[in-house]
Amino acid sequence: MKKAKIIAVANQKGGVAKTTSVWNMAFSLGELGKRVLAVDFDPQSNLTASFLEETMILKTTIADVMTKAMDEESLPNKEEYIYSRGKIDFIPSSIHLSVVEANLRMEMGSEKLLANILEPLRALYDFILIDTNPSLGPLTINALSAADSVIIPINPEFYATMGLTDLTKTILKIRKRINPGIQFEGILMTMCDMQTNLHKEVCLEVTEAYGNGMKIFKGQIPRSIRVGEANRYGMSVIDFDILQKITYN
Ligand SMILES: Nc1ncnc2c1ncn2[C@@H]1O[C@H](COP(=O)(O)OP(=O)(O)OP(=O)(O)O)[C@@H](O)[C@H]1O
Ligand SMILES: [Mg+2]
Repeated sequence: MKKAKIIAVANQKGGVAKTTSVWNMAFSLGELGKRVLAVDFDPQSNLTASFLEETMILKTTIADVMTKAMDEESLPNKEEYIYSRGKIDFIPSSIHLSVVEANLRMEMGSEKLLANILEPLRALYDFILIDTNPSLGPLTINALSAADSVIIPINPEFYATMGLTDLTKTILKIRKRINPGIQFEGILMTMCDMQTNLHKEVCLEVTEAYGNGMKIFKGQIPRSIRVGEANRYGMSVIDFDILQKITYN
């Protein structure tokens, strides 16, 4: 039976569009008829806020499931922590995940806890997308240990490539020590101001530094106020664009 591919979206640099990428990829894959589970693995819970609808009450989050896993207790039924919005399923996060992160630091051999939680869910989906927090701490390590591949969003500004070496080194260590199957899915340029020299220079810099060993997606995401607006209204950019066309045409 075909099993889900687990993709982590990671970059310890904050605000590079990790959450926006997971959110929009989830919707687009759903539109393509794929069964998608999005996992919010960031205590900031931005992805959860996007998915949340007024009528939803979140009783169990990934923080609760991780706590049970850490305490070697039996996990809740998946119906208790997997929620649905339209065609997409998601596992929400909460600020309590930061407590989990602190505890993970003191826990031995805890890198595979998320992998163990997601493994039985693979049979139910085509893709499991994990949104990570902006750090290279134990939560991101757990996400990378669970993933078949990683997408690295980069905002091509000065400083963009700083830290990228630490991230790639961490992924290579995880491949060697914990998760031999993890692949680099590719670098995704986000928030691009295509016309500026800075953008062109940083893109060239990234291509020179990483283009040999890693795929750099040809499709680049332009910087657009509409992305922020779509996020604000809890819509994917595609749905937001369609709504705008209906409203203003
Ligand atoms: N293509 C884009 N054009 C304009 N704004 C964007 C674009 N993509 C994302 N943004 C905005 O940039 C901000 C950061 O995006 P997002 O929250 O997805 O980043 P992140 O990497 O998940 O951040 P964090 O590291 O805090 O988790 C948000 O306000 C979002 O609306
Ligand atoms: Mg985020």
